[in-house]
Amino acid sequence: MNPLPIPVADARPASGHFESIGGEPAVTRIVDAFYRQMDARPEARVIRAMHGPDLAPVKAVLVRYLCEWLGGPKHYSAERGHPRLRMRHAAFPIGAAERDAWLDCMRAALDETRTDAALRDMLMQAFFRIADWMRNNGS
Ligand code: HEM
Repeated sequence: MNPLPIPVADARPASGHFESIGGEPAVTRIVDAFYRQMDARPEARVIRAMHGPDLAPVKAVLVRYLCEWLGGPKHYSAERGHPRLRMRHAAFPIGAAERDAWLDCMRAALDETRTDAALRDMLMQAFFRIADWMRNNGS
């Protein structure tokens, strides 16, 4: 048991979601769809430009992060340590528009991959809390 207060970005959905979503293959499909959406959506142009031209490295990291966050294998923290997501995003100006663009891409990715509706709603609520907590430029 972790005696420290859990920061919001590390709050996990109840255990078992990694299996019910379909494990790493399903998470990989969602992350692929997410970055395809980011490449294609006009409202995501600003957040797409924060990333390098090659999305493969960040895709692999996001897959590992989400697998662990959903209760799967802990490859992310084994490789990168504590997520400290707010700190890792501090270099990027994130306001409400950037938060909403990220969430739009994720919602579309979950729809495209036909993620179960109840699971999708639960995930979107959790992603909203994390993305909202990431805001750092006051807009
Ligand atoms: C709120 C809007 C967000 C923006 C604009 C954003 C943008 C970015 C950018 C530009 C990177 C670095 C990519 C690179 O290294 O090329 C990144 C990394 C990452 N993002 Fe986000 N992000 C957002 C929200 C989120 C959310 C909600 C999550 C989690 C659910 C998340 C998880 C991650 C992870 C795990 C990484 C890799 C961190 C690492 O290096 O270990 N991001 N993000």
